[in-house]
Amino acid sequence: MKPVQPDVVSPPQVSTSAARTDLASPTAQLQLGDKTVQLPIVVGTENDRAVDISHLREHSGFITLDEGYANTGACCSSISYVDGDKGILRYRGIPIEQLAEHSTFVETAWFLIYGELPTADQLRNFRRLLTEHEMLHEGLHNMFNGFPQHAPPMATLSAMINACSCYHPDILAPEDRSTFESAAARLISKVRTIAAASYKTSIGHPIVYPNPKLSYCENFLHMMFTIPNQPYEPDEQIVRALNLLLILHADHEQNCSTSTVRMVASSGANLFASCAAGVCALWGPLHGGANVAVIETLDMLHKSKIDPKDYIAKVKDKSSGIRLMGFGHRVYKYYDPRAQILRAVADKLLSTLKINDPLLDIARRLEEIALQDSYFKDRHLYPNVDFYSGIVMRAMGLPVNMFTVLFAIGRTPGWVAHWKEVRDNVHKRIDRPRQVYIGHTLRDYIPVEMR
Ligand code: ACO
Repeated sequence: MKPVQPDVVSPPQVSTSAARTDLASPTAQLQLGDKTVQLPIVVGTENDRAVDISHLREHSGFITLDEGYANTGACCSSISYVDGDKGILRYRGIPIEQLAEHSTFVETAWFLIYGELPTADQLRNFRRLLTEHEMLHEGLHNMFNGFPQHAPPMATLSAMINACSCYHPDILAPEDRSTFESAAARLISKVRTIAAASYKTSIGHPIVYPNPKLSYCENFLHMMFTIPNQPYEPDEQIVRALNLLLILHADHEQNCSTSTVRMVASSGANLFASCAAGVCALWGPLHGGANVAVIETLDMLHKSKIDPKDYIAKVKDKSSGIRLMGFGHRVYKYYDPRAQILRAVADKLLSTLKINDPLLDIARRLEEIALQDSYFKDRHLYPNVDFYSGIVMRAMGLPVNMFTVLFAIGRTPGWVAHWKEVRDNVHKRIDRPRQVYIGHTLRDYIPVEMR
């Protein structure tokens, strides 16, 4: 995997980005004017192939330009594998379908972070650590009083995760294994306590303390739904659905929020600061915020009785500026396997709980129409993880403004695993992209009275 050094060439005369990769040889050749630059080819364990351009500028004066990073590998990683053409997702080699069926969120979290399925002892110890760290410092609790009641829970979540840095200075540089384990467990445990507390604050209810006797998912539901003098008894089906939902969201290689976490981590920032940044990146409607946008769309279609066919026609009309939320993906050009699982879960959960949600019918209809339409077929637009997740969360009784927060709880182990991978990389350098400057060329300052 270690790339060989490219041959040194003199600076090129003309600009061209035409690269030719010869997959039979260990290098690619890039023709820049009359100069040829040899570039190493890096091959991953699943035969992903990349042209290593890390020394290109040094040897040629050129950089590469790839806005949105659609074609840029930012790192080598061994955490999750996605084959977007075949609709494959694996965590540490294990297909997502197997983990969804057999694992729990806590086990999957440990697996993602440490790379192997935990032994019974390791799992017990991790559970113990999660329970040990489930409480928030009272100083953090008091901070909830400072947020306006209707503060978006994603804003609160990010601020509070970052604020954890103030209360746990002993684990800000978790270099040794036990300190890291403690920091990772604190974050994964507290993110759920913070999330539930931000919801309680947003509805003006008293914050519910965690109950150490409950499992990770039961405890979250308890903190969300217990009200004074009215304990909440979590339904077994809902607990299982929550486990599954969190497993499906736990990692997804170099997505926007994970890349953000890695970038912040590359500067040496601590785990809490890096993951707080991840929450901010996840919030956007083109990323984790899409699960809210999907439900809002379905709800709007239901209330206004707009025919899904007419809505799809509107989406196809580019002048409308409307996208079918929960559809399309940068990497998947086939059905997102997580969407496939969630579609089945939505069907099963709603029928078990005897819920008749008209939004599920509308979603199915939209999907059916879109998948037969050449606009979507030609662009390889399929349902992504967010298309059915909101319907599952609604059935679990979770409010819409918590949907992206749930995504963040699920994604936290993935962020932790990536933070660790960055920290453990002995060749790590700070992430610092370059740019092609297109602003003014040299000009002089003009005093204000002369402007
Ligand atoms: N509805 C309608 N058209 C779409 C959609 C959509 N949801 N997604 C992409 N397209 C069209 C684009 O208009 C574009 O058409 P064109 O070639 O005629 O210009 C083409 O498909 C390619 O789209 P891009 O925006 O270039 O694709 P990109 O890879 O940059 O974006 C993204 C991926 C952001 C997910 C996009 O598909 C999208 O906006 N989807 C809706 C939001 C969403 O569901 N986000 C969640 C993604 S999963 C996640 O983050 C957890």
